[in-house]
Amino acid sequence: MTARFAPRAPGFMVAPHEAYRALRAQGPIFHEADTGIFYVLDHALAIEVLRAPERFSSAVDRAGMRAGGLPAEVQAIRAKGWPLAPTLSHNDGPSHDAFRALVAPLFMPRGLATIRPFIASRVAELAKRIAPCEQIEFVSAFAVPLPIAVIGEILGMRHLGDDTLKRWSDAFADELGFLTSDARAVEIARLTLACHQAMMALVDARRGSDGADAITLLANATIAGRPLEAGEILSLLTQLLVAGNETTTATLAFALLRLAKTPGLWARLSADRALLPRFIEEVLRLDCPIQGQFRRAVADTRLGGIAIPAGSLLHLRFASANRDERVFGPDDDTVRLDGKPAAPHLAFGMGLHFCVGAALSRFELTIALEALLDRFAGVSLAAEQGALPFRTHFHHRNLLALPLVFRA
Ligand code: HEM
Repeated sequence: MTARFAPRAPGFMVAPHEAYRALRAQGPIFHEADTGIFYVLDHALAIEVLRAPERFSSAVDRAGMRAGGLPAEVQAIRAKGWPLAPTLSHNDGPSHDAFRALVAPLFMPRGLATIRPFIASRVAELAKRIAPCEQIEFVSAFAVPLPIAVIGEILGMRHLGDDTLKRWSDAFADELGFLTSDARAVEIARLTLACHQAMMALVDARRGSDGADAITLLANATIAGRPLEAGEILSLLTQLLVAGNETTTATLAFALLRLAKTPGLWARLSADRALLPRFIEEVLRLDCPIQGQFRRAVADTRLGGIAIPAGSLLHLRFASANRDERVFGPDDDTVRLDGKPAAPHLAFGMGLHFCVGAALSRFELTIALEALLDRFAGVSLAAEQGALPFRTHFHHRNLLALPLVFRA
């Protein structure tokens, strides 16, 4: 059964849930013998880990997990840039909260109210370009352009071009998945350096100036009474850039796929918009764009009765926890809109590192789906579901293309 769990294999992301289900039937934790990674598949144990950063640290060198290490050329390109400092995702220390406090207001109600008109106008523009009854490739026509424009606007980088920002973001995302070829690893290093140089030029230009964008904010911010260092600013900006678009893009595409393949769902949501937030949470639960995240055991410990030696890597598979039968009932891939959710899903994580942009992505998804429900009477899939392409990645799940036909 475990042979089907091949998280590094091309095609694994097409139907990972079947592999998780098979693993869960064997136990809550799967130990991968050749890498030593403990995959946590169970909802309660994933929460136990997420809530105990003092036992399970996020300070993990994900990129360093690449088989064979990094080509020398990558190191040479990196040497021309700035070493990044741990700020949010990789930082469990006391400075985590201070860094988070700097950027969190961008995603709180006031920040969201500021960006709302931009989101609404971009959504209207993209929706208008969709012709009813004609086939459209939804990922490139809508799911990618909306979130990259929104995060570009929030960062204050949109003038550099959405395509450029997306290319940089894809490079960071691929690196996090550590399944790249040597040629791509070198390309990623070049794109990263170009992105960091562009960001630092904007930071330098905006020192001492006013402005609501994240670059101006960080260029003029202080932490513990001193200005931020380049490696800290770049760490924050690159995390916001990649996390701010990739996952919302994935969720938009998964939402439309579910609407296309579930009879009656479009009509039900159209008639009862109050169900939309629940639908979005169900898409996040079932399709879970970030399938999992690493943690490292700080000391010898036990989890679910299993001994975990100090230094071991754990991979919390949020996507499996979100379908844990003991919490959510049968794993039948069904969107449940009735009754109360059985438990919080883990698509945004939990605890110290809970997604700082969760409210923004929910906001963006709501505005986008409302507009599509307003404009069209339904949607169908214009391809065999089994033929849909997914990105090869260790823990991000993204549709690369989604051919759809919207009905008038
Ligand atoms: C559907 C969309 C999204 C999903 C599924 C998602 C998922 C996640 C998850 C699972 C984590 C926790 C990782 C961990 O515990 O190691 C996280 C953290 C984070 N997310 Fe998101 N995210 C989304 C949207 C966004 C957006 C729109 C932004 C920013 C604009 C963002 C920025 C971040 C940052 C900076 C962190 C690190 C927070 C910390 O360590 O304190 N995310 N996200």
